[in-house]
Amino acid sequence: MELFPPVKPSLLIVDDSPANLSLLAGLLIEHYSVKTVNAGSRALKVASEQQPDLILLDIMMPELDGYEVCRRLKADPRTREIPVIFLTSKTDPDSERLGMTLGAVDYISRPATPAVLLSRVKAHLVAAANTRALRVSNEYLEFEVSRRTRQMAALQNVTILALASLAEARDSETGNHLQRTQRYMELLCRQLGNNARFSDYLSTERIQLMVRCAPLHDIGKVGIPDRILLNPGRYKPADFEIMKTHCVLGRNAIANARASTGENDDFFQIAEELIYSHHERWDGTGYPQGLAGDAIPIPARLMALADVYDAIISPRVYKDGLPHARAAQIIADGRGRHFDPDVVDAFVSLNAEFQAVAAGFADSDAELQEKALSLSRSIA
Ligand SMILES: [Fe+2]
Ligand SMILES: [Fe+2]
Repeated sequence: MELFPPVKPSLLIVDDSPANLSLLAGLLIEHYSVKTVNAGSRALKVASEQQPDLILLDIMMPELDGYEVCRRLKADPRTREIPVIFLTSKTDPDSERLGMTLGAVDYISRPATPAVLLSRVKAHLVAAANTRALRVSNEYLEFEVSRRTRQMAALQNVTILALASLAEARDSETGNHLQRTQRYMELLCRQLGNNARFSDYLSTERIQLMVRCAPLHDIGKVGIPDRILLNPGRYKPADFEIMKTHCVLGRNAIANARASTGENDDFFQIAEELIYSHHERWDGTGYPQGLAGDAIPIPARLMALADVYDAIISPRVYKDGLPHARAAQIIADGRGRHFDPDVVDAFVSLNAEFQAVAAGFADSDAELQEKALSLSRSIA
């Protein structure tokens, strides 16, 4: 005797005629676990409670007919997936068409030979089992892909922040500058998503990448000598030329990383554009390439405004911060000169949001003193 005999698939047979029920049950009982009911309402109850693997359904029955039973089975999430086979003496094409449009998997006309009936029941049970297995494996794959995607994004964020904080540690700017500019970037992206000049470019994925990459904009500063980097505010012309190379150094670092991975996705593209071109100006007077207008990549155009606004309002070791209204005036004056006019317009409509970010992530006196101290240590 087998300890665990294989579980037979379960069938629910629905027919108002006792003779039909016993005939069908007699035929199928050898291969399946069979349950019979003689009314539609009873079929719905048993189907939702016991979840049979397949339902053989008569059409012409008093009260609920087979069509209505099928309609209700397909409308109920608990029974929707159970395959239904109509087994009926209604053999006209219209009845068959109606049965199939209600979601049945098959329509067998009476009288059917035992061989045909058995082979079609078996075929639909196999098909349903395969569909179930496929769905389970798809669900697992989807879960796994989304888990890994989240993992990758987290890893990318950590790497970016680690890199960015290296540059920030040697610079007069505080870590809050990175946080604030990242948030300004997000505000500008969302606002410009409604602008026809930007909406095609600003997909959800690209916005995420732009926000994620924003803290990298000045990583090239790690390659600038201390005597220049730690003496901000007043550069000699020759030193300023060296300072400008932070865009190229940063871009090259990412480009080299890209080359070594062989990957060529939006992340690298956006990071490079943002780092390389965030000091370009709309009128072509910026650096390093002197690009003008739409030739400046979009991520860099947004970064430029976020970066300049934050530099103006933030106190530094060598200067006071200006109030928001004054900064807003300076940005507005740069409309069509320093900045893309539409980016300035987006900024204007985001006045309150920019101020809220500036206030929420302001540099405390303690942070500024700490920064001054660490910089003076580096100089000494
Ligand atoms: Fe910069
Ligand atoms: Fe910056």
